[in-house]
Amino acid sequence: MILEKLNPVPYGSLVFAPMEGITDEAFRKTILKLYPEWDYLATDFLRVPSAGRYPFKHLVRHFGKDLSEIGWVKNKTMFQILTSHRAFTVQMVKDVASLDYPWMDINLGCPSNTVTKNGGGSSLLLDLVALRSLLKTIRENFPGRLTAKIRTGFHDTAEFEDSIRLLNDEGIEMITVHGRTRDMMYKVPAVWSYIEKAVKISQVPIIGNGDVWGLNDIDRMLNETGCHAVMVARGALKAPWIAQDYRRGHFQETAPERFVKIQNFFSEYRAQLESENISDRGLLKQSKSVSRFMLDGIQDSEVIRRKLLLSQTAPEFYSIIENF
Ligand SMILES: Cc1cc2nc3c(=O)[nH]c(=O)nc-3n(C[C@H](O)[C@H](O)[C@H](O)COP(=O)(O)O)c2cc1C
Repeated sequence: MILEKLNPVPYGSLVFAPMEGITDEAFRKTILKLYPEWDYLATDFLRVPSAGRYPFKHLVRHFGKDLSEIGWVKNKTMFQILTSHRAFTVQMVKDVASLDYPWMDINLGCPSNTVTKNGGGSSLLLDLVALRSLLKTIRENFPGRLTAKIRTGFHDTAEFEDSIRLLNDEGIEMITVHGRTRDMMYKVPAVWSYIEKAVKISQVPIIGNGDVWGLNDIDRMLNETGCHAVMVARGALKAPWIAQDYRRGHFQETAPERFVKIQNFFSEYRAQLESENISDRGLLKQSKSVSRFMLDGIQDSEVIRRKLLLSQTAPEFYSIIENF
């Protein structure tokens, strides 16, 4: 099996974060078509089954096909898996490689109870000895680029530095550090000093993540932590065009400009979802999830936001967007 050799990730790259329920194929196609300034994107996690094997069809549906015609090529995407010690990891890893996905990312950060009580996501940080053997197994079976996305710990950060060294030792080629422990979930401010700590001890590049909300935060994270690249999650849901504005130096935005950007985004997103023959209900559900942060910070947008969330049909949702 020969996987495509990927070029190194350049310094200062901007990465659109993995987000479960959001960053599916239609969403990623929309992002890359409208905002090719994103250097990399991620898929949301594919859960490794605890028994049996996913059909290839399922894997391809989750990770997506190569869509070179709109410039979405496999080497721009990190394909994320979520596993545990109980899961059938080896088979899944081999299957991902055999389908030519050249970049696999391991989720070591998911905080949700459902995931952690089954031994996955951030709970893998609770036992570094066991984590080492899991990583060894994955590394032995995946010849492509192997990266990991990690929180600073589960309950506390006592083993943070050890976990970074461990990832280095076991052949992880790049590490995204989300500057929160699992117990901090999402609300407490991310602690960037842990990203800086990781940069100091890691031989492999560190991607900084956590609380990049605006354009200024991108430079601030690069400068304050020394990280190699920046990953944006909720800030990129609020403004999927943030990478474009950053590259164009467009640091000011009026509310009307923002509304036009939201309209453009949803017009393309709807077209992508409709091209998959999605049901009206599916279209409404996905569009509502994606709109969650997009009106944040716009004065008096509460009424519109409520109307969007209360809309009963996709045409109703889209007519609110069109009539901003
Ligand atoms: C709705 C949602 C879904 C997420 N799903 C994933 C996921 O599938 N895989 C993952 O590694 N992180 C996931 N995350 C975490 C983000 O990638 C990111 O690490 C976190 O939100 C911190 O970045 P931010 O402060 O820029 O939002 C998710 C976050 C949100 C808000």
